[in-house]
Amino acid sequence: MIAGEREPLLAGKKIVLGVTGGIAAYKAADLASRLKKEGAELRVVMTEAAAEFVQPLTFRVISGNPVHSRQFEEPRVWSVEHVALAEQADLIVVAPATAQIIACMALGLAPDLLSTVLLAARSPILAAPAMNTAMYFHPATQEHLSILRARGVVLIGPDEGGLACGATGTGRMSEPAVIAAAARRLLALSGRLAGRRALVTAGGTRERIDPVRYIGNFSSGKMGYAVAAALAAAGAAVTLISAPAALPPPAGVQFVQTESALAMREAVRERFAASDIVVMAAAVADYRPETAAAEKIKKSGGELVLTLTENPDILAELGRRKQGKIIVGFAAETEEARARGAEKLKRKNADFLVVNDVALPGAGFGVDTNIVSFLYPDGTARDLPLMSKKEIAGLITEEIVRLLPNDNKSAKENENE
Ligand code: CTP
Repeated sequence: MIAGEREPLLAGKKIVLGVTGGIAAYKAADLASRLKKEGAELRVVMTEAAAEFVQPLTFRVISGNPVHSRQFEEPRVWSVEHVALAEQADLIVVAPATAQIIACMALGLAPDLLSTVLLAARSPILAAPAMNTAMYFHPATQEHLSILRARGVVLIGPDEGGLACGATGTGRMSEPAVIAAAARRLLALSGRLAGRRALVTAGGTRERIDPVRYIGNFSSGKMGYAVAAALAAAGAAVTLISAPAALPPPAGVQFVQTESALAMREAVRERFAASDIVVMAAAVADYRPETAAAEKIKKSGGELVLTLTENPDILAELGRRKQGKIIVGFAAETEEARARGAEKLKRKNADFLVVNDVALPGAGFGVDTNIVSFLYPDGTARDLPLMSKKEIAGLITEEIVRLLPNDNKSAKENENE
């Protein structure tokens, strides 16, 4: 390698690219070329329908390898190779992923070579759905996608825009550059947090007023759940301590359900000593009713005054007894996000703070995207553009990997010494 030239990020990584039959198949050629340029050893498997859209020869030239497509035409090759392909792959990327292949994956069906490879897969799988809007929103497709998500398949897109059928809507395959970046991140991070324990909090706490009412907030839990999934994908043993959120717990994560700030604090304290990484993404209520009424409060015709008591600041407490752990905080602001975030970072003694201005469009509660900045104790900041919460979770994970001391000793081992 010439001095100053960076090593291709996917050097030596074995990637199987599955191409299925949609108009976006032509974009898969661009994706294949990007993966190849990053140094991946690429094998392409096409469905018969995909070969109607793009000539296998295109992928043969780009990948430098024979293209696997028809299941029964080359029995000698396929009978050996479908298992070998699945076993040797570091990553399988399915792009575009039609409703059909998504259904096969969810249901474990193996009618052709690609679905057979996917069923035999041991590596992480990344899929980029692409289809007509009605097909995408059909309850069957949505159910299949949730099954895949729960199993840990990483889904990228689909995006909104003009579709092959002439309509505009959700269903366009994400851009090849975005899919390639996700593949890079998945491979770069895979196994990097093996042996590490992570605690992640998420959701908005509920502070009881009486048995049927509470003080809450608009946090959906999406950011914290995405962080838990990303840390788990990087190999960490993750415990997700969640306030109520309408989301399924990510695959492979130990899940602890809590409700109030005090209950979350207890759950965090119990596990803090044995953790290497703590990410406080929960929106913790700063105040709780002084007393929660034992019976439902009845209308009295006049004013009702609630006295609120301040909750402990969980993050600040952890920051005071940091013990070499990586602690990440969040801050949701509505004005002067940067200055207020910097003050919070200092006060709570975190390694970095993820700050977002919840008043900006595309940012904040409930939505799948966010606009955040990472703030560091030395006063520097990294501003990120609008991106999905999943992508932000990947970047948070990268940052944690970068910050972790490289002694390969987990907090658990230190504790046992
Ligand atoms: N946090 C916490 N315990 C609390 C309040 C907040 O651990 N009682 C954590 C959150 O999980 C988040 C960070 O602190 O990681 C910032 O939360 P935020 O509500 O923005 O900050 P506050 O300290 O409550 O500041 P303020 O309400 O004054 O903006």
